[in-house]
Amino acid sequence: MVVLNKLQEAIGHISPAMQFYVAKQLNQPISNIHGVVLFYSFFTTKPRGKHTIKFCVGTACYVSSIDQIIEKAKQVLGIGPGETTEDGLITLELCRCAVVSVLAVRHLLLSLMKKFKDACNRIDSQNIQKSEVIN
Ligand code: FES
Repeated sequence: MVVLNKLQEAIGHISPAMQFYVAKQLNQPISNIHGVVLFYSFFTTKPRGKHTIKFCVGTACYVSSIDQIIEKAKQVLGIGPGETTEDGLITLELCRCAVVSVLAVRHLLLSLMKKFKDACNRIDSQNIQKSEVIN
């Protein structure tokens, strides 16, 4: 676990190749290493973006229409859960109950609105730059 923590901190993810290497060095079956990486949400097998937005899909959030918020995020950012924007800024992830329930969803929604606004402004400014180059 310590080795995996160090890898995650240093490199930002633990790819299957890295898991294989760790398993070999520790003389452990690859399934043991892979199981730990999959179990703890702190670990990721792919690099995350600079910012990670996690959507709780626990029961309370689910009945509060979190699926509609996720759908909107997918539309605005053009990525789905588990994916990162091309510019490497935002990763979307799903998680289970964060023990903060619907109030957290409202807070998350407000936070998302700001991130979406920033993302839209960034896209707009990129479009302006491209049109300026064309003209
Ligand atoms: S169900 Fe979403 S925070 Fe608990």
